[in-house]
Amino acid sequence: MFLLHDQFRKELAESLVVAIKEQLAVDIGISTLYPLFCPTPNKASGNLAFPLFIVAKLAGQAGSPINPAQAAKKLQDSDFKLPPFITKKLAAGPYLNFFFDFNIIAKLIIPEIHSGAFFSQKLTENTPKTMVEYSQPNTHKELHVGHMRNLCFGDSLIRLHRYAGFNIIASTFPGDVGTHVAKCLWYMKFHNKEKVPTTRKGAWLGRMYSTAHNKLEEEKGSALEATNREQLTAILKQLEQKSGEFYDLWKETREWSIELMNEVYAWAQVKFDQWYWESEVDSDSVKLIREYQKKGLFKEDQGAVGIDLEEYKLGFCMLLKTDGNGLYATKDIELARRKFENSGIEKSLYVVDKRQEHHFKQVFKVLELMGFENAKKCMHLQYDFVELPDGAMSSRKGNIVPLQNLIEEMVKMIKEQYLARYLNEWTDAEIEKTAQVVAKGAIKYGMTRIDPNKKIVFDMKEWLKLDGESGPYVQYAYARIHSMLNKQGEQVSGELVFDTPQEHDVINHLMKFQTVIQESVEQYKPSYLTAYLYDLGRYYNSFYAECPVGSAAEPVRSSRLSLSRAVAETLKQGLSLLGIEAPERM
Ligand code: ARG
Repeated sequence: MFLLHDQFRKELAESLVVAIKEQLAVDIGISTLYPLFCPTPNKASGNLAFPLFIVAKLAGQAGSPINPAQAAKKLQDSDFKLPPFITKKLAAGPYLNFFFDFNIIAKLIIPEIHSGAFFSQKLTENTPKTMVEYSQPNTHKELHVGHMRNLCFGDSLIRLHRYAGFNIIASTFPGDVGTHVAKCLWYMKFHNKEKVPTTRKGAWLGRMYSTAHNKLEEEKGSALEATNREQLTAILKQLEQKSGEFYDLWKETREWSIELMNEVYAWAQVKFDQWYWESEVDSDSVKLIREYQKKGLFKEDQGAVGIDLEEYKLGFCMLLKTDGNGLYATKDIELARRKFENSGIEKSLYVVDKRQEHHFKQVFKVLELMGFENAKKCMHLQYDFVELPDGAMSSRKGNIVPLQNLIEEMVKMIKEQYLARYLNEWTDAEIEKTAQVVAKGAIKYGMTRIDPNKKIVFDMKEWLKLDGESGPYVQYAYARIHSMLNKQGEQVSGELVFDTPQEHDVINHLMKFQTVIQESVEQYKPSYLTAYLYDLGRYYNSFYAECPVGSAAEPVRSSRLSLSRAVAETLKQGLSLLGIEAPERM
């Protein structure tokens, strides 16, 4: 599926295959060898390392035992043919390290980066058509900063996969039915005194929900509890039967939430190819369970239906309640079936937070027991929470940062802190646009830069910093190069020469771009790309601090301008895979 795309590594791998055969009598295929390369501990010991553990093992199996360090030494001492961009090879314990000629490399990749050919190399082949389901907020609740982690993570995974050559269907599955909806409507109908606002109804509705939740919690154990419960049951009943005033109110209010979601999606520039709704899979999911109940797969106990998964250490999975209604897992079973049947996909990814790990394990196991072959092609991509510096967020309790307020506050701060100096120079529209682009950069970068398995602490000031690892840092690096190139004018094309270690660091980093993308896709980690971009910004900044550009004599000046342009192109390309725009001025 993943190709040996790096031309340099590939050439080096080819010569190693031959040398290993000649010197050590070991047959190792290029596709086994290529992925083994690893970084050296520091650049004084080389630019790329090849570990000899596997080769030594194969030699042992073939009857000529040798240890990895001896194998490395033997290869170092033999004088096999190396590609022209390798200047030296050196054994370091069990590794054979290689030193690069960066001028040869630069001559190849800089023009390719400029023309865009570098970014259109094929990274994969025969990839499975894949659905990525992400950003599945519940209606009737407020969207808050926590929801952005899923959105940004899912969106960047999709962009990365598409870039790598996958055919991706982006889908979402909002929760528009259930007790949270009933609670919200209950409060609106029986307790609310406020008038429905004319704008931002979705956010207002979310507040109704959290007020409802708190009220119901407070009244637990009081004389009101029984009435509340009766009222909620009556509401849920109407929603199930799809008739009555609460059903009408559901239809009306659901639209308010959808409007809010669409505003956020438009702002974040994400688009779904396919929308699934919990309310739409509900009744078919019950039918599906009944069908398999008849086949004898599910057990009935006092009217409730489910399946014992104890033998897989997954407890009991309930699928129909005594009233005959389905549950969350029930809907997911029908949803999984639909995804494969209606879209012809071969792989199905679910971007959902880690609290739902057990749920998905149960769902995928039930699907497997139902004989659904695609069960093993379903995968839960989980991520940890977003917290505020002072603790966890919960839309139920209402201690959240509503997304739209947050964006407004961020935009205001960006205008005051970074763009105030352009007040007389730029149009208001340009200031507004740039502030929005930077706010998006801060949020999207901040939400993807942390490994999905780790918690994120959302801290607006940190995320907007120009001198730390942030989206605006990378955007600013791009904008600075852009203005520098504008000021310096077109470079005279000609000989590319790079003699300083700072230039070599930049070139060495540039050549890794595609490999980083490949690894981000393979391991579902956009954080590899964010780290790469930050490092590229840093390498470039130290180059710029140490190596004069405008005042250098030719051909050094042109070479440095070419290198700068290549860095800008790469930053822009990388940011775009996170859904972030690169502003030309900021
Ligand atoms: N709406 C659910 C929630 O907010 C997430 C849905 C995840 N997707 C799924 N197929 N179950 O918790």
